[in-house]
Order: sequence, then C-alpha cells, then structure tokens
Amino acid sequence: MNLDFSQIIPYIPFMLEGIWVTLKFVFFAIILGSILGTLLALFKIGAIKPLRWFADGYTSIFRGTPLILQLMIIYYSIPQLTGYDISPFLSAILAFGLNSSAYISEIIRAGIQAVDKGQLEAAQALGVPYGAMMKDIILPQALKNILPALMNEFITLTKESAIVSTIGYLDLMRRAQVVGADLFRNFEPLLFVGVIYWCLVMGLTVVGRMVERRLKLSD
Ligand code: ARG
Repeated sequence: MNLDFSQIIPYIPFMLEGIWVTLKFVFFAIILGSILGTLLALFKIGAIKPLRWFADGYTSIFRGTPLILQLMIIYYSIPQLTGYDISPFLSAILAFGLNSSAYISEIIRAGIQAVDKGQLEAAQALGVPYGAMMKDIILPQALKNILPALMNEFITLTKESAIVSTIGYLDLMRRAQVVGADLFRNFEPLLFVGVIYWCLVMGLTVVGRMVERRLKLSD
C-alpha cells in the first residue's frame, strides 16, 4: 500500500488555517440564514397573502435548485449583471445564507405551529400585541422544540461548505486539493481534512446538546 503521512507534515499549518477560513463564512451564513429564515416563517404563518406567496415562492426556488448552482450564479453572474466583482467570501455568505433561510423558515414555521394553540388564545385574550406575543411567548417555546432540527441544519451547512472550493475560495476542502496536487498524493490530505470536518461537526453536536440541556432546565 502506498501511504506516507509524513509528507503532509509541512502542509499541516496551511490546512489548519482552512478551519478558520471555513468557519468564518459558515458563521455569517448561519446568522443571515437565521434572521431571514425567521422573517420568512413569520410571513408564512401571517395573514398577509402576498407575503405568504413570496415566502412560499422563495422557499420553492432555493430548496428546489442545487446549492452549488446558486453559489455559481451569485459568483459569476453578479459581475456580468452589475459590472461589480464579488469576492468568493461574500458570494459564499450570500449563497449559503439565502439557501439556508429557505430550510430554516420551514423548521421555524413547523415549530411555531406546534406550540399549543391555547398559548396564542391566552395571549390574545389578555390583549398582548402580536409582536410581543411572537417575541416573548410563541418563539421562545418554538425554539425549544426546533433546536435539534436547527442544529441539523447548521451541521449540513458546515459540511456543504466544502462546495465553495469550486469558486476558488481557499477553504479546508480546497486546501486539501492544493496539497494533493503539490504532493501527487491525495489520500493523506483528504483524510486529514476529513477528520477536521468530523471534529467540527462533533463540536457543533456537543454545543447543541449543551444548549438543549440548558433550555430543559428552564422547564
Ligand atoms: N446538496 C444540497 C443541494 O445542493 C444541499 C442543500 C443545502 N441544504 C441545507 N439544508 N441548507 O441542494
């Protein structure tokens, strides 16, 4: 068997740097996706029909086409349409954030609708305004129920992040390919970043469990 892990040693700092590069855009994409996703979910359960149509159409488009296609449209078409270049970093945040918001909106919508109807009726009977009711009564309860599904989405996003390597962003995946091309051996660098992705996902899982336990305490 042709295996030699010692050859990747000089490249380890280069590959480790990819962790930060990957996490940086995934973090911003999660923030963007969560804010937009909450907004879309509120549109979907709201009474204003055009907003409901918009949110449904949005979800259908972003869930119905490949993420890699959305990423490429943003990265290659924005310069063509506007005359302004867009960096791989910004394209990645936009593509992942917009894509994720479609999934997150469905998770949140289901979470809100699963909150006992009596909660809404009681709030209305007490004359709590809609905004305050959502923010202080319904959404906190919904959040508790949807936490596992949300963590799942964040894990998906972390792993799918590897497709930004296709637009030349020097993330973990791209770095493994660069090292592979340099050494004429691919298995070792690929395995190395594979272990890193796994560690990242395990980290997310642990954080998710901790938050879940903390929220249970308040029951
Ligand atoms: N590979 C899938 C696609 O291209 C992943 C979509 C992202 N999934 C997500 N839950 N945000 O459509």
